Amino acid sequence: MAPLLACLILNGCERNDTGEAPAAERPATPRSATPEKKTPASNPTTRAETKKVAIEANDKMKFSVTGFSVETGQPVEVTLKNVGTMPKVSMGHNWVLLKDDAAPGKFVEAGFDDAANDYIDPGVADQIIAATRLLGPGESDTVTFTAPEKAGKYNYVCSFPGHFAAGMKGVMTAE
Ligand code: CU
Repeated sequence: MAPLLACLILNGCERNDTGEAPAAERPATPRSATPEKKTPASNPTTRAETKKVAIEANDKMKFSVTGFSVETGQPVEVTLKNVGTMPKVSMGHNWVLLKDDAAPGKFVEAGFDDAANDYIDPGVADQIIAATRLLGPGESDTVTFTAPEKAGKYNYVCSFPGHFAAGMKGVMTAE
């Protein structure tokens, strides 16, 4: 009597007589022991869609977007377009997102002499989360990355000498 009662409660043996009990168990097995991680779509904690951000840089040394928000761990796609007209050697722009423990002022200072490296000192390149290349007038570049899992504020800068000091910066908030 007890086993039958258990079957009724668990609802797993109701088709015992039809011989389909094993089949009924089958869907549960792969769900709990799938060898390959299934697509995130089947995961209740599915990440949001890619956050797309378009930023313009101009001859006045300003980003058109000085702040935006993303979800932690969200895929992000940032496109920087240099809409200015001045030559790259005197007015190049890039978009460099830094880790939260980086000091943006010190970061850009370190790269002042690194023209050949888009004004980024390789010695502090590990402070970068994502960066576009240095753009001349009319050029654009897109960079994709995954937002940090850690909520917080992440500075972005243009590393061309003097631009950060002139206000070419912004903050990405991960929340
Ligand atoms: Cu710039």
